[in-house]
Amino acid sequence: MLLRFPLRLLLAVPVLLVVQGSTAGGGPPPGPASPLGDPSWALGLRLYRALRSDSTASNTLFSPLLLASSLEALAEGSAGATATQVRDLLKPPAQTAGLQVGEYLSEALKRLTTANGTGFHVHASSALFSKQAPALGSAKERLTKFMLQQRTLGKGGAAEDHKQLQDWAEAGFGRLDGAPVEAEIKAKAGALILANAMRFKGLWEREFGQDGTDRRTFLGKKYTKVVMMHRAGLYRHYEDVNNMVQVLEAPLWGGEASLLLLLPFHVETLGRLEKLLTLELMSGWLEKAAVNSVAISLPTANISSALSLQKQLSALGLTDAWDPKAADFSGLADHGKGKLHLGGVLHRASLELTAEAGKGETELEEEKVEKPKMFYADHPFIILVRDKASGALLLMGCLDHAEGEAVHDEL
Ligand SMILES: *[C@@H]1O[C@H](CO)[C@@H](O)[C@H](O)[C@H]1NC(C)=O
Ligand SMILES: *[C@@H]1O[C@H](CO)[C@@H](O)[C@H](O)[C@H]1NC(C)=O
Repeated sequence: MLLRFPLRLLLAVPVLLVVQGSTAGGGPPPGPASPLGDPSWALGLRLYRALRSDSTASNTLFSPLLLASSLEALAEGSAGATATQVRDLLKPPAQTAGLQVGEYLSEALKRLTTANGTGFHVHASSALFSKQAPALGSAKERLTKFMLQQRTLGKGGAAEDHKQLQDWAEAGFGRLDGAPVEAEIKAKAGALILANAMRFKGLWEREFGQDGTDRRTFLGKKYTKVVMMHRAGLYRHYEDVNNMVQVLEAPLWGGEASLLLLLPFHVETLGRLEKLLTLELMSGWLEKAAVNSVAISLPTANISSALSLQKQLSALGLTDAWDPKAADFSGLADHGKGKLHLGGVLHRASLELTAEAGKGETELEEEKVEKPKMFYADHPFIILVRDKASGALLLMGCLDHAEGEAVHDEL
């Protein structure tokens, strides 16, 4: 029977299997499901590259899963070229036969709520703002499936709209630093503004411990004094000598999710590594990563971004959605065609890297650490958070600069 399955279907099997069962805690995590067939990874990598092609970008972070599921909700409410263009953003290079993109993303989102408070603390919300509430009718269910709330901006002017968007983002997210991206948004009649916000704090599977931290210099865009955490243990690790990059997977408590770190061998800005990044290369790294003794040093830091994504999404081929004449969101409201269009996509994300580990009953096996490899992250790195059960990409970003007291002459 199995032999008759096309190859594409066989490739899909590992992905589908892990969706069903959550992995048990303890020990090194099981081998990775391939990101090659995953819509959140496909969108994540494209958007990451588009964001980073702007050389002034610093400490980028966004949630591919949150954005992908909101876009899928929009795709399901659109038709014609608008729908095709949204779907193309979510198309992985090795399309998994039989994978229902909508079901998959919606299930992966639900996992966030069930896993919340065990391996990580997450706040995640998505909303579709508009001046007048479109008569959603049956589309309401579709939005709920993707945790997308519907919000009305009201009759006020731009200043009031911005305040409302800002208040929404701050609710549950906490105080926001820097200039609000809402300033770029002008909510006209018929404009839909998609907003996503994710705040994430992972809890390690194995404790770094209080005496595992000290103050050291982080060699980012500016040199700064930061608290670094250190731990030697067994981790999935791979050294790509040709591309001069180390790949490390560090599990969070209970095997709920893991952090993937891509660290250049030497101190450098991330431009070289970012030009290399493809989904194929990254999948290859994950396959080759093997459990090794590794001595990890990581800065404690907050990585956060507030982004307005219209420019990048347009560059990636989403063009009709913004144009009131061309956009077709007829599935979202009865009077949709020619009226509803996308007026903005706002995205906020923040990731806290701390030494904290999760707590629970699980007895972890003792690790036998021998001649560990050094994974010394005192310079910029790329960071990804992957949900272990679904394989979905929760966060993707990088640390170019760590906040801290400036270091001047000592080096
Ligand atoms: C996670 O739990 C916190 C605290 O209980 C809650 O505020 C937050 O909304 C939850 N996040 C999700 C995605 O359910
Ligand atoms: C990160 O942010 C949290 C919450 O705002 C704060 O408590 C913590 O001290 C910050 N960590 C660093 C390293 O700045």
